[in-house]
Amino acid sequence: MPRVSELFFKTAIVFLIVGIAIGLHMAISQDHAAFPAHAHINLLGWVTSAIFGGYYALNPAKAARRIAMIHYGLYTLGLVVMLPALYLMLAKGNTAIEPVVATGSMIVAAAVLTFGFVVFSSEPVPTASGLKSAPR
Ligand code: HEM
Repeated sequence: MPRVSELFFKTAIVFLIVGIAIGLHMAISQDHAAFPAHAHINLLGWVTSAIFGGYYALNPAKAARRIAMIHYGLYTLGLVVMLPALYLMLAKGNTAIEPVVATGSMIVAAAVLTFGFVVFSSEPVPTASGLKSAPR
């Protein structure tokens, strides 16, 4: 499996563990105030990261490009900024932290645009002198 896929899956499982822990905490405490944070941790952190990892596993030539690692770094940074702040805002009522949520969200959005660029760019093919873009 390409390194970027491995990284996406390792990150994804950490978010799933945290997301499920928050889900169990909500269920046991019967306080569901943090459910949007739980939903975003599971869907952006687990599901979307795993889909990115799967995409790169299916496209090893794209996974080898530097932009794939930039995508991983940007996306994960965005989640690490956004999701804990979203949880604190909802579960603890800390509204002052909203600008941090907004900043993290913008980084996540930038990372998704980066992935869009990867998806629509031509797949590089090996040549004797290195990689070049495949004809469409
Ligand atoms: C042991 C695992 C889990 C537990 C105990 C759990 C628990 C909960 C609880 C208590 C709520 C709040 C429901 C409400 O107030 O309406 C909730 C909402 C939600 N959960 Fe989970 N959850 C778990 C796993 C997951 C996973 C794996 C995902 C996604 C991949 C997920 C996605 C969602 C979503 C999208 C909502 C919001 C639903 C709504 O709008 O009402 N959950 N969960």
